[in-house]
Amino acid sequence: MDIQCVFVVGAGVMGNGIAQVAATSGYDVIMMDIIPERLKHAKESIRKSVDKLIKKGLIDEAQRRSALNIKCVTNLAMVEEADIVIEAASEDRDIKRTIFGDLDRMSSPETILATNTSSISITKIAAATCRPEKVIGMHFMNPVPLMRLVEVIRGLNTSDDTCQTVFDICRKMGKEPIEAKDFPGFISNRILCPMINEAVFALQEGVGSAEAIDAVMKLGMNHPMGPLALCDLVGLDVVLSVMEVMQRDLGDDKYRPAYLLRKMVDAGHLGRKTGRGFYSYK
Ligand code: 3HC
Repeated sequence: MDIQCVFVVGAGVMGNGIAQVAATSGYDVIMMDIIPERLKHAKESIRKSVDKLIKKGLIDEAQRRSALNIKCVTNLAMVEEADIVIEAASEDRDIKRTIFGDLDRMSSPETILATNTSSISITKIAAATCRPEKVIGMHFMNPVPLMRLVEVIRGLNTSDDTCQTVFDICRKMGKEPIEAKDFPGFISNRILCPMINEAVFALQEGVGSAEAIDAVMKLGMNHPMGPLALCDLVGLDVVLSVMEVMQRDLGDDKYRPAYLLRKMVDAGHLGRKTGRGFYSYK
Protein backbone atom coordinates (compact mmCIF):
# COMPACT_ATOMS: atom_id res chain seq x y z
CA MET A 1 0.00 0.00 0.00
CA ASP A 2 1.34 3.43 -0.97
CA ILE A 3 1.40 5.76 2.03
CA GLN A 4 1.60 9.52 1.51
CA CYS A 5 -0.53 11.21 4.12
CA VAL A 6 -0.08 10.59 7.86
CA PHE A 7 -2.74 11.99 10.20
CA VAL A 8 -1.64 12.23 13.85
CA VAL A 9 -4.31 12.49 16.56
CA GLY A 10 -3.04 14.29 19.68
CA ALA A 11 -0.37 17.01 19.79
CA GLY A 12 1.18 16.13 23.16
CA VAL A 13 4.83 15.09 23.57
CA MET A 14 4.40 11.79 21.71
CA GLY A 15 2.01 13.11 19.05
CA ASN A 16 4.21 16.05 18.08
CA GLY A 17 7.33 13.85 18.07
CA ILE A 18 5.63 11.34 15.74
CA ALA A 19 4.34 14.15 13.48
CA GLN A 20 7.83 15.67 13.30
CA VAL A 21 9.57 12.44 12.36
CA ALA A 22 6.87 11.57 9.79
CA ALA A 23 7.29 15.02 8.21
CA THR A 24 11.09 14.85 8.07
CA SER A 25 10.76 11.37 6.50
CA GLY A 26 8.87 12.68 3.47
CA TYR A 27 5.22 12.14 4.44
CA ASP A 28 2.50 14.81 4.21
CA VAL A 29 1.47 15.27 7.82
CA ILE A 30 -1.70 16.59 9.43
CA MET A 31 -1.64 16.95 13.24
CA MET A 32 -4.95 17.19 15.05
CA ASP A 33 -5.75 18.22 18.61
CA ILE A 34 -9.02 19.53 20.03
CA ILE A 35 -7.07 22.05 22.15
CA PRO A 36 -5.60 24.88 19.97
CA GLU A 37 -3.17 25.86 22.74
CA ARG A 38 -1.66 22.37 22.62
CA LEU A 39 -1.12 22.65 18.85
CA LYS A 40 0.67 25.95 19.39
CA HIS A 41 2.91 24.40 22.03
CA ALA A 42 3.52 21.36 19.79
CA LYS A 43 4.68 23.57 16.90
CA GLU A 44 7.11 25.31 19.24
CA SER A 45 8.51 21.96 20.48
CA ILE A 46 8.94 20.78 16.89
CA ARG A 47 10.72 24.01 15.96
CA LYS A 48 13.17 23.64 18.88
CA SER A 49 13.79 19.99 18.07
CA VAL A 50 14.46 20.48 14.33
CA ASP A 51 16.72 23.45 15.10
CA LYS A 52 18.85 21.14 17.28
CA LEU A 53 18.83 18.34 14.71
CA ILE A 54 19.85 20.63 11.85
CA LYS A 55 22.76 22.06 13.89
CA LYS A 56 24.01 18.49 14.39
CA GLY A 57 23.66 17.74 10.66
CA LEU A 58 21.06 15.05 11.35
CA ILE A 59 18.47 16.62 9.02
CA ASP A 60 18.71 19.11 6.13
CA GLU A 61 16.92 22.40 5.45
CA ALA A 62 14.20 20.75 3.31
CA GLN A 63 13.39 18.32 6.13
CA ARG A 64 13.30 21.19 8.63
CA ARG A 65 10.85 23.09 6.39
CA SER A 66 8.61 20.01 6.06
CA ALA A 67 8.41 19.73 9.85
CA LEU A 68 7.59 23.43 10.23
CA ASN A 69 4.86 23.11 7.58
CA ILE A 70 2.86 20.38 9.32
CA LYS A 71 -0.83 21.19 8.90
CA CYS A 72 -2.56 21.69 12.27
CA VAL A 73 -6.31 21.10 12.67
CA THR A 74 -8.74 20.91 15.59
CA ASN A 75 -11.17 18.27 14.27
CA LEU A 76 -11.23 15.06 12.24
CA ALA A 77 -12.71 16.52 9.01
CA MET A 78 -9.43 16.11 7.06
CA VAL A 79 -8.91 12.51 8.14
CA GLU A 80 -10.51 11.43 4.83
CA GLU A 81 -7.15 12.41 3.21
CA ALA A 82 -5.13 10.06 5.42
CA ASP A 83 -3.52 6.79 4.34
CA ILE A 84 -2.64 6.05 7.95
CA VAL A 85 -3.78 7.58 11.22
CA ILE A 86 -1.48 7.38 14.24
CA GLU A 87 -3.42 8.07 17.42
CA ALA A 88 -1.49 9.48 20.39
CA ALA A 89 -4.29 10.86 22.58
CA SER A 90 -4.88 10.29 26.30
CA GLU A 91 -4.00 6.86 27.66
CA ASP A 92 -7.62 6.03 28.49
CA ARG A 93 -9.41 2.98 27.11
CA ASP A 94 -12.81 4.66 26.72
CA ILE A 95 -11.39 7.80 25.09
CA LYS A 96 -9.39 5.70 22.62
CA ARG A 97 -12.40 3.51 21.75
CA THR A 98 -14.50 6.62 21.08
CA ILE A 99 -11.76 8.11 18.88
CA PHE A 100 -11.39 4.86 16.91
CA GLY A 101 -15.16 4.68 16.36
CA ASP A 102 -15.04 8.23 14.93
CA LEU A 103 -11.95 7.49 12.83
CA ASP A 104 -13.62 4.39 11.43
CA ARG A 105 -16.69 6.37 10.35
CA MET A 106 -14.79 9.36 8.94
CA SER A 107 -11.72 7.92 7.18
CA SER A 108 -11.50 5.98 3.91
CA PRO A 109 -12.11 2.23 4.37
CA GLU A 110 -8.52 1.65 3.15
CA THR A 111 -6.93 3.78 5.87
CA ILE A 112 -4.79 2.01 8.48
CA LEU A 113 -5.65 3.02 12.04
CA ALA A 114 -2.64 2.79 14.37
CA THR A 115 -2.47 3.61 18.06
CA ASN A 116 0.54 4.68 20.10
CA THR A 117 -1.00 3.19 23.26
CA SER A 118 1.58 2.18 25.86
CA SER A 119 -0.47 -0.60 27.43
CA ILE A 120 -4.09 -0.87 26.28
CA SER A 121 -5.19 -3.95 24.29
CA ILE A 122 -5.04 -3.40 20.51
CA THR A 123 -7.73 -6.06 20.08
CA LYS A 124 -10.07 -4.10 22.36
CA ILE A 125 -9.41 -0.81 20.54
CA ALA A 126 -9.89 -2.57 17.17
CA ALA A 127 -13.28 -3.87 18.33
CA ALA A 128 -14.57 -0.27 18.31
CA THR A 129 -14.16 -0.29 14.50
CA CYS A 130 -15.54 -2.29 11.55
CA ARG A 131 -11.98 -2.85 10.23
CA PRO A 132 -10.03 -4.75 12.93
CA GLU A 133 -7.71 -6.11 10.22
CA LYS A 134 -6.46 -2.54 9.66
CA VAL A 135 -5.93 -1.65 13.33
CA ILE A 136 -2.45 -1.99 14.83
CA GLY A 137 -0.22 -0.71 17.64
CA MET A 138 2.75 1.56 16.81
CA HIS A 139 4.39 2.23 20.15
CA PHE A 140 7.01 4.98 19.79
CA MET A 141 9.52 5.85 22.51
CA ASN A 142 10.12 9.25 24.09
CA PRO A 143 11.86 11.39 22.83
CA VAL A 144 10.57 10.21 19.46
CA PRO A 145 13.12 12.04 17.25
CA LEU A 146 16.02 10.34 19.08
CA MET A 147 14.83 6.84 19.97
CA ARG A 148 15.18 4.09 17.36
CA LEU A 149 12.53 1.62 18.52
CA VAL A 150 8.93 1.29 17.44
CA GLU A 151 7.17 -1.63 19.11
CA VAL A 152 4.61 -2.99 16.61
CA ILE A 153 1.66 -4.83 18.11
CA ARG A 154 -0.86 -6.87 16.18
CA GLY A 155 -4.38 -7.26 17.52
CA LEU A 156 -6.07 -10.64 17.16
CA ASN A 157 -7.38 -9.75 13.68
CA THR A 158 -4.63 -7.45 12.33
CA SER A 159 -3.76 -8.56 8.77
CA ASP A 160 -0.29 -9.45 7.46
CA ASP A 161 -0.66 -6.62 4.90
CA THR A 162 -1.28 -4.02 7.60
CA CYS A 163 1.67 -5.30 9.61
CA GLN A 164 4.00 -5.26 6.58
CA THR A 165 2.93 -1.71 5.62
CA VAL A 166 3.58 -0.47 9.17
CA PHE A 167 7.00 -2.15 9.26
CA ASP A 168 7.83 -0.32 5.99
CA ILE A 169 6.63 3.03 7.39
CA CYS A 170 8.74 2.58 10.55
CA ARG A 171 11.84 1.89 8.47
CA LYS A 172 11.16 4.89 6.21
CA MET A 173 10.98 6.94 9.43
CA GLY A 174 14.46 5.68 10.34
CA LYS A 175 13.11 3.46 13.13
CA GLU A 176 13.59 -0.21 13.93
CA PRO A 177 10.22 -2.01 14.25
CA ILE A 178 10.08 -4.93 16.69
CA GLU A 179 6.94 -7.04 16.97
CA ALA A 180 5.36 -7.70 20.38
CA LYS A 181 2.26 -9.70 21.24
CA ASP A 182 -0.93 -7.97 22.42
CA PHE A 183 -0.40 -8.39 26.18
CA PRO A 184 -0.77 -5.56 28.73
CA GLY A 185 2.37 -3.38 28.60
CA PHE A 186 3.66 -5.32 25.54
CA ILE A 187 7.44 -5.92 25.93
CA SER A 188 8.78 -2.44 26.67
CA ASN A 189 6.49 -1.29 29.46
CA ARG A 190 6.08 -4.79 30.93
CA ILE A 191 9.75 -4.52 31.85
CA LEU A 192 10.42 -0.77 32.11
CA CYS A 193 7.48 0.40 34.24
CA PRO A 194 7.93 -2.14 37.07
CA MET A 195 11.58 -0.99 37.27
CA ILE A 196 10.52 2.66 37.52
CA ASN A 197 7.76 1.75 40.01
CA GLU A 198 10.31 -0.13 42.15
CA ALA A 199 12.52 2.96 42.15
CA VAL A 200 9.54 4.95 43.50
CA PHE A 201 9.01 2.29 46.22
CA ALA A 202 12.72 2.64 47.12
CA LEU A 203 12.32 6.41 47.39
CA GLN A 204 9.09 6.07 49.40
CA GLU A 205 10.79 3.70 51.86
CA GLY A 206 13.85 5.95 52.20
CA VAL A 207 16.31 3.44 50.75
CA GLY A 208 17.97 6.38 49.01
CA SER A 209 17.34 9.90 47.80
CA ALA A 210 16.08 10.45 44.23
CA GLU A 211 19.59 11.55 43.24
CA ALA A 212 21.17 8.45 44.83
CA ILE A 213 18.70 6.04 43.22
CA ASP A 214 19.26 7.57 39.79
CA ALA A 215 23.04 7.72 40.24
CA VAL A 216 23.17 4.01 41.17
CA MET A 217 21.36 3.03 37.96
CA LYS A 218 23.42 5.41 35.80
CA LEU A 219 26.86 4.65 37.21
CA GLY A 220 26.28 1.03 38.19
CA MET A 221 24.15 -0.18 35.29
CA ASN A 222 25.13 2.28 32.55
CA HIS A 223 21.55 3.47 32.01
CA PRO A 224 21.55 6.78 30.10
CA MET A 225 19.30 8.29 32.76
CA GLY A 226 18.07 7.15 36.18
CA PRO A 227 14.58 5.62 36.59
CA LEU A 228 13.14 8.63 38.44
CA ALA A 229 14.44 11.10 35.84
CA LEU A 230 13.04 8.79 33.17
CA CYS A 231 9.69 8.72 34.98
CA ASP A 232 9.69 12.53 34.85
CA LEU A 233 10.43 12.34 31.10
CA VAL A 234 7.64 9.89 30.21
CA GLY A 235 5.17 11.33 32.73
CA LEU A 236 4.20 10.03 36.17
CA ASP A 237 0.57 9.74 35.01
CA VAL A 238 1.65 7.50 32.10
CA VAL A 239 3.66 5.18 34.37
CA LEU A 240 0.77 5.04 36.88
CA SER A 241 -1.72 4.23 34.13
CA VAL A 242 0.49 1.45 32.70
CA MET A 243 0.93 -0.11 36.17
CA GLU A 244 -2.83 0.03 36.80
CA VAL A 245 -3.61 -1.62 33.47
CA MET A 246 -1.04 -4.38 34.10
CA GLN A 247 -2.28 -4.98 37.67
CA ARG A 248 -5.90 -5.18 36.49
CA ASP A 249 -5.50 -7.07 33.22
CA LEU A 250 -2.74 -9.49 34.26
CA GLY A 251 -4.51 -9.93 37.62
CA ASP A 252 -1.26 -9.82 39.58
CA ASP A 253 -0.56 -7.53 42.53
CA LYS A 254 3.16 -7.54 41.79
CA TYR A 255 2.24 -4.68 39.43
CA ARG A 256 0.62 -2.53 42.15
CA PRO A 257 1.67 1.12 41.80
CA ALA A 258 3.75 2.69 44.58
CA TYR A 259 1.59 4.89 46.81
CA LEU A 260 3.99 7.82 46.35
CA LEU A 261 3.50 7.63 42.56
CA ARG A 262 -0.27 7.86 42.98
CA LYS A 263 0.04 10.73 45.49
CA MET A 264 2.28 12.75 43.16
CA VAL A 265 -0.12 12.26 40.26
CA ASP A 266 -3.00 13.38 42.51
CA ALA A 267 -0.98 16.51 43.33
CA GLY A 268 -0.47 17.24 39.62
CA HIS A 269 3.29 16.62 39.74
CA LEU A 270 3.44 14.75 36.44
CA GLY A 271 7.12 15.31 35.57
CA ARG A 272 8.72 17.56 32.97
CA LYS A 273 5.43 18.46 31.32
CA THR A 274 4.15 20.17 34.50
CA GLY A 275 7.58 21.49 35.58
CA ARG A 276 7.70 19.21 38.63
CA GLY A 277 8.04 15.49 39.25
CA PHE A 278 10.81 13.83 41.22
CA TYR A 279 12.90 16.82 40.13
CA SER A 280 12.04 20.44 39.45
CA TYR A 281 12.23 21.84 35.89
CA LYS A 282 11.47 25.49 36.54
N1 3HC B 1 14.76 16.54 19.67
C1 3HC B 1 16.02 16.88 19.34
N2 3HC B 1 17.04 16.83 20.23
C2 3HC B 1 16.76 16.42 21.49
C3 3HC B 1 15.47 16.05 21.89
C4 3HC B 1 14.43 16.13 20.91
N3 3HC B 1 13.17 15.79 21.17
N4 3HC B 1 15.49 15.69 23.20
C5 3HC B 1 16.77 15.84 23.61
N5 3HC B 1 17.52 16.27 22.59
C6 3HC B 1 18.95 16.59 22.58
C7 3HC B 1 19.36 17.45 23.76
O1 3HC B 1 19.02 18.79 23.56
C8 3HC B 1 20.84 17.24 23.77
O2 3HC B 1 21.43 18.07 22.82
P1 3HC B 1 22.88 18.73 23.10
O3 3HC B 1 23.80 17.56 23.19
O4 3HC B 1 23.11 19.56 21.90
O5 3HC B 1 22.74 19.49 24.37
C9 3HC B 1 20.99 15.79 23.30
O6 3HC B 1 19.73 15.40 22.73
C10 3HC B 1 21.33 14.87 24.41
O7 3HC B 1 20.44 15.12 25.47
P2 3HC B 1 20.94 15.34 26.94
O8 3HC B 1 22.33 15.88 26.99
O9 3HC B 1 19.86 16.08 27.66
O10 3HC B 1 20.91 13.93 27.60
P3 3HC B 1 21.38 12.52 27.10
O11 3HC B 1 22.72 12.53 26.47
O12 3HC B 1 21.18 11.64 28.29
O13 3HC B 1 20.37 12.05 25.98
C11 3HC B 1 18.30 10.88 25.92
C12 3HC B 1 19.00 12.19 26.17
C13 3HC B 1 18.42 10.47 24.45
C14 3HC B 1 16.83 11.12 26.25
C15 3HC B 1 18.94 9.76 26.80
O14 3HC B 1 19.03 10.20 28.13
C16 3HC B 1 18.15 8.50 26.79
O15 3HC B 1 18.24 7.70 25.88
N6 3HC B 1 17.34 8.29 27.86
C17 3HC B 1 16.45 7.15 27.95
C18 3HC B 1 15.20 7.45 27.18
C19 3HC B 1 14.25 6.29 27.22
O16 3HC B 1 14.43 5.28 27.88
N7 3HC B 1 13.14 6.44 26.48
C20 3HC B 1 12.09 5.46 26.45
C21 3HC B 1 11.05 5.82 27.48
S1 3HC B 1 9.76 4.65 27.56
C22 3HC B 1 8.63 5.20 26.48
O17 3HC B 1 8.74 6.24 25.87
C23 3HC B 1 7.42 4.33 26.34
C24 3HC B 1 6.22 4.93 27.03
O18 3HC B 1 5.10 4.16 26.68
C25 3HC B 1 6.34 4.98 28.54
